[in-house]
Amino acid sequence: MSILIIGGGNMGKTYAQSFLNSKLVKREDLFIYDKDKLKIDLINQFQIGTGVTVLGDFVSKIDTVVLAVKPQDTKKLYPELKPLVHSGQLFLSIMAGIRIHDIQHALGVDKVVRAMPNLPAQIGMGMTVFSASDKVPKPELTYIQNLLETTGHSIIVDKEEMLDAATAISGSGPAYVFYFLDTLIQSAIEMGFSPSESYLLAEQTFLGSVNLFRRNNLTCTQWIEKVASRGGTTEAALEVFKEKSVDKGIKEGILKALDRAKELSFE
Ligand SMILES: NC(=O)c1ccc[n+]([C@@H]2O[C@H](COP(=O)([O-])OP(=O)(O)OC[C@H]3O[C@@H](n4cnc5c(N)ncnc54)[C@H](OP(=O)(O)O)[C@@H]3O)[C@@H](O)[C@H]2O)c1
Repeated sequence: MSILIIGGGNMGKTYAQSFLNSKLVKREDLFIYDKDKLKIDLINQFQIGTGVTVLGDFVSKIDTVVLAVKPQDTKKLYPELKPLVHSGQLFLSIMAGIRIHDIQHALGVDKVVRAMPNLPAQIGMGMTVFSASDKVPKPELTYIQNLLETTGHSIIVDKEEMLDAATAISGSGPAYVFYFLDTLIQSAIEMGFSPSESYLLAEQTFLGSVNLFRRNNLTCTQWIEKVASRGGTTEAALEVFKEKSVDKGIKEGILKALDRAKELSFE
């Protein structure tokens, strides 16, 4: 099965590398197109598939086309791509906020899968939520899921609107985690730890907690109870979080992200 990735940026390169590492895709079957010659030279130098700077007749022979340019770049891309593609081909779009119907309409194609990955895909620890047009046959959907899972975990959703929710939770989520991580780091520095000690303290606390959560069936509340003893230090911190409604603030932020994701889908 041949694949053409359009856009050799962060995500395009991550996908190319993950597909090859998984051995699901052979090097000779993988093509990457980017308008930036420098990026393509590097892709060819590191042998991450065949990099090209021009789209041509070869596109019609490709089985799966991955759309990995920024949403605003589709204005230029669609007119260039449309005459070269046909409805037998499978399309995987990871472009934030662009609906399946819009891609079908813009390119005159049927089989479209839309996915929302996140940044940890770069290290095979990504979370991808995806949805497909009803024109994608089951074996092709399974193939796409296998491709997506070369970058981490995935779940499929029937309702495409859930991709907006996924954008607000797992898409933007790494930034929320880094925000909290940074607050822990800064607090540790202010208390007198060196920056490198502070990184370690914060990072290991996150890693340890997430792994505990993964390996047991306890809820977050039950884990909190295990850490916080009555009248102790953790309880003192949690009381301040409660007083300041930190959870409410986080939820409000996430809902704002959801609103923005919906707005972008309709722009
Ligand atoms: N990064 C993430 O964490 C993340 C997560 C979820 C979804 N996404 C989605 O993934 C897509 C790619 O994101 P990214 O971070 O990889 O962006 P990126 O690093 O900017 O990569 C996009 C690449 O496409 C190139 N390009 C632009 N217009 C083109 C055209 N007409 N033909 C060929 N190549 C073109 C860009 O070149 P120039 O740089 O020269 O413009 C750039 O090299 C976006 O739609 C984004 O919404 C990203």
